[in-house]
Amino acid sequence: MKSLFGKLADGTEVHSWALENGGTRLKVLSWGGVVRSLEIPDRAGRYANVCLGFDTIEDYVAGSPYFGALIGRYGNRIAEGRFTLDGESHQVDVNDGANSLHGGAQGFDKRVWDVEPFTEGTDVGLYLYRTSADGEMGYPGTLRTKVTYTLTRQGDWRIDYEATTDRATVVNLTSHVYWNLAGESSGTVHDHELEIAASRYTPVDSGLIPTGEMADVAGTPFDFRRPKTVGEDLRAAHQQLLYSKGIDHNYVLDKGITGEPEHVATLKDPSSGRTMKIATTEPGLQFYSGNFLDGTLVGSGGTVYRQGDALCLETQHYPDSPNHPSFPSTVLRPGQIYRTTTVHSFGA
Ligand code: BGC
Repeated sequence: MKSLFGKLADGTEVHSWALENGGTRLKVLSWGGVVRSLEIPDRAGRYANVCLGFDTIEDYVAGSPYFGALIGRYGNRIAEGRFTLDGESHQVDVNDGANSLHGGAQGFDKRVWDVEPFTEGTDVGLYLYRTSADGEMGYPGTLRTKVTYTLTRQGDWRIDYEATTDRATVVNLTSHVYWNLAGESSGTVHDHELEIAASRYTPVDSGLIPTGEMADVAGTPFDFRRPKTVGEDLRAAHQQLLYSKGIDHNYVLDKGITGEPEHVATLKDPSSGRTMKIATTEPGLQFYSGNFLDGTLVGSGGTVYRQGDALCLETQHYPDSPNHPSFPSTVLRPGQIYRTTTVHSFGA
């Protein structure tokens, strides 16, 4: 089901698609490929929207902190927006202090995508297409991107990312949904239980750029190898938590890069019983504990979003990889196809 959601200042129409399958209901915008809401039942069968979002396109354009959006060309930060590729230096858009965040000021999250619905066997979904011109936001190469959102018969939400380029470039696509399994507008996620299959994470400097180290989570607030509530160690006096006002770190997933999506994280809200499992082909997971939600935005549920009211689990390659030869490479060359998959499975 397609409907008009609103218009951008230049008159461009933004549409909303509503899909349902296997007990999961999804609403997606052509602007930024934004997941505006994702509704799943609790253990008593009661539905709630578990994603932060807004009711109008004006709110999204005015100041969305990437709510539900597709992130490109490069998820998370690139130090000073600079990197060297094949001996050539590139300067991409700087939009986060001295650094580049999520592809620059006009990243994929703020662009209108071409959206095409599909049905395939028992799956329903949307194909989202966008071509990013050579030089857009400073990135080399024409990047042709196709993202597939699938709702399966089991109610899983699967994302397949594909991209090609006509010149060597770097790519790191992800999805920036803010999750609250008790329901958007229900308070903090500090009592959610989280498990992440990662023994190491990438510590950062004060600008949230990885130092290059891959540190053990053992004995630190970053240890989620066994289920732990999100809030348990958030107030620990640890320098890394001070830099980012909470957790905002990339986890080095133990499984590494895989050809097929493998399980990496489980999130559970004990009050509603809702659970979400994430499987991915990617080597990293950015766990962001909603630190910069500061009570200045009114969400779709009509309440103000405050610090910790949701969390993000962004499957990706590591931040600032173009400047860290020891990290898995984010380079894409002509003739290669960038392909990653992430699956969200829900239960109660
Ligand atoms: C980043 C945060 C950033 C947030 C934007 C996350 O992916 O890691 O540092 O503030 O996105 O809302």
